[in-house]
Amino acid sequence: DRPLRIALLGCGVVGTEVARLLTRDADELARRVGLPLELVGIAVRRLDRDRDLDVPAELFTTDALGLVTRGDIDVVVEVIGGIEPARELILAALEAGASVVTANKALVAEDGARLSAAATKAERDLSFEAAVAGAIPIVRPLRESLAGDRVQRVLGIVNGTTNYVLDQMTTLGQGFSEALEEAQRLGYAEADPTADIEGFDAAAKAAILASLAFHTRVSLGDVHREGISDVTAADVRSAAEMGCVVKLLAICERTETSVGARVHPAMIPLEHPLASVRGAYNAVFVESEAAGQLMFYGPGAGGAPTASAILGDVVSVARNRVREIFGPGETTHADLEVIDVGRA
Ligand code: HSE
Repeated sequence: DRPLRIALLGCGVVGTEVARLLTRDADELARRVGLPLELVGIAVRRLDRDRDLDVPAELFTTDALGLVTRGDIDVVVEVIGGIEPARELILAALEAGASVVTANKALVAEDGARLSAAATKAERDLSFEAAVAGAIPIVRPLRESLAGDRVQRVLGIVNGTTNYVLDQMTTLGQGFSEALEEAQRLGYAEADPTADIEGFDAAAKAAILASLAFHTRVSLGDVHREGISDVTAADVRSAAEMGCVVKLLAICERTETSVGARVHPAMIPLEHPLASVRGAYNAVFVESEAAGQLMFYGPGAGGAPTASAILGDVVSVARNRVREIFGPGETTHADLEVIDVGRA
């Protein structure tokens, strides 16, 4: 059996972790997918950077387009971020017959409809669980698990950097810049942290959440946005006096006639579950007609948590490829080990 070939575009904080886990857990992933997954190329901007990654040097290339169009790639993982060249590469990858897994919230928010159409046309998968709230499964729950319900409102803390900064200001009385530097050091922040602080990152995620929750198209330009740069220590203190915490919230709402999304700092009463979201953690609070209130909570940024969501998508699209290669009914998820879990 031939392995499934994976190409990785980008090798920053998240890409490095994806490559590391793909290599370290190769045997386990092969069992889960039904075929081995082989990392066959890593596209980077520069070859001369020192990388803390134990993979053969010949995997690295600066020719990303050449890599995705070479014709034998099953899954392309895009973690470059930004609009171009990511969009061009994803479209080329789909056209060349690969499925695509991306963490690119800016691109999915701006042009998700076009990418999905390209995937449908190519009869390939396009998955982006990692684009919203890092490790938290929220894309699939909104798109699939809750697809039979009517979601009325989604409230999200979807940017780890700003939540970390506000949390440090609230609990330690730390200054804004000190807290931001720490968030950058921990690998939460975007390359340009303005995207975090001014709410652009959260707005992209709000557009994606609203599109998924309401099964419609909400793009970035439709999202009203305000960041946290005007939030002062005095604001945080007076919120506390009122029994509240300040959080940067993404709010997606359905009314009788329309849907909308916005991002701005908000005061959350301490008794609301969202008030307990600390550090770089994220949470998405969903209110739906039949299910009622649901909260999805977990690490929303950083290399390993984001890589977890990406690898989940890789396994999922790889299983679809295996099904295509072998035809229905032919795949087994290899020998499942029986684990003795003891008695309760
Ligand atoms: N900069 C983002 C954050 C990373 O802080 O949440 C995850 O998208």
